[in-house]
Amino acid sequence: MSARLSNLCNCYSRMLLLWSAVVLGFSRVSDADFCPPQFNISLDQPPEERWLPLTKHFDGAFMRKAAAQVIDSTVPKWVHRAVEPIAAALEEFFPQPYAGEIRGVATGFGLSIGDVVLLNFAYETTAFCTSIVTQDSKGNIYHGRNLDYEHDDILRNITVDVQFIRNGQVAYKGTTFVGLVGLWTGQSSNKFTVSGNERAQGYWWENAFAAFVRKNSPVSWLMRNTLEEAEDFEDAVMKLAKIPIIADVYYIVAGARPNQGVVVTRNREGPADIWPLDPVNGRWYQVETNYDHWTTPPPFDDRRTPAIKALNATGQENINLDTLFKVITFFFITIYTTVMSAAFPEMYRTEVRKKT
Ligand SMILES: *[C@@H]1O[C@H](CO)[C@@H](O)[C@H](O)[C@H]1NC(C)=O
Ligand SMILES: *[C@@H]1O[C@H](CO)[C@@H](O)[C@H](O)[C@H]1NC(C)=O
Ligand SMILES: *[C@@H]1O[C@H](CO)[C@@H](O)[C@H](O)[C@H]1NC(C)=O
Repeated sequence: MSARLSNLCNCYSRMLLLWSAVVLGFSRVSDADFCPPQFNISLDQPPEERWLPLTKHFDGAFMRKAAAQVIDSTVPKWVHRAVEPIAAALEEFFPQPYAGEIRGVATGFGLSIGDVVLLNFAYETTAFCTSIVTQDSKGNIYHGRNLDYEHDDILRNITVDVQFIRNGQVAYKGTTFVGLVGLWTGQSSNKFTVSGNERAQGYWWENAFAAFVRKNSPVSWLMRNTLEEAEDFEDAVMKLAKIPIIADVYYIVAGARPNQGVVVTRNREGPADIWPLDPVNGRWYQVETNYDHWTTPPPFDDRRTPAIKALNATGQENINLDTLFKVITFFFITIYTTVMSAAFPEMYRTEVRKKT
């Protein structure tokens, strides 16, 4: 089966929609959930050229407008000024391949390097995410995530699935926004899947910028590096727990074998807590939103309890990628939802959610 065909087959809502269109005469495809476009990013090409498939597909004028809106409303003015010297000496501040990729994205869309750097910083915060890892009664592991953010109108239109190709093989894949060279959602086939949720603390920009100058990694770059380099689930958890990053975050990691699920609560310099799945003692799922798991979420933003209720109602014997998708999408309207399972890499499925 070709990559495109299998992607289509995994996009159940599109199939359902086609079916509804046939049976019920619906035709308003643009109002419904849809699969994002998928691109191959070749790691065998120089970093400057890797993202060209996206710059050909997305309109430069639209991207410049979108970038301006995200940056102006998200990034404090002093950061704009602080980024100028970084943009002017990109390779001194950013390691490869990120410096080259940022340069290529800027050239491709006709954006300034400073704006692409700011855009990448802007996407280092992702509010109101929910990630769930579950294990079914046979020991299969499933991972689901919702990602939300301000500017959902724009971001729905620039959500993409990307496959990173090396020597003609998919090295790893993920879901991202056009212009962001890091990943917040990804899968390394037969090894592990990972998602990141913001863990907001005060003075985010001040602390993140100071940590960046100390050479800590942006949160979404550590995810991509881990997808690229980690040998297996344990190695991934170790890297995600230990390597210094620019902001606090939750890394949710799921493996390809029974019991391989963990929520890593991160401080900038190292782990604050590591919380493993524990199916033997009845904990066959873990729900992480944007609050430490050992605290009670505030009543005005409790996404944890409804998710747990829905998982309880589903039951361990009935959990799979379809039922997990229902659990994770039932309560929350988000920009996109991804469900994935490292042991079944072809089942990776993202849907961009309709606006309500
Ligand atoms: C996003 O795409 C939809 C469908 O093509 C379009 O109607 C909408 O105006 C776009 N939104 C923005 C912010 O460009
Ligand atoms: C992407 O790369 C994979 C692996 O090499 C290949 O099978 C697939 O056809 C490619 N898809 C596109 C759209 O080029
Ligand atoms: C979910 O099920 C567990 C185990 O039976 C129970 O302890 C917990 O209270 C339930 N939570 C909710 C929110 O229903």
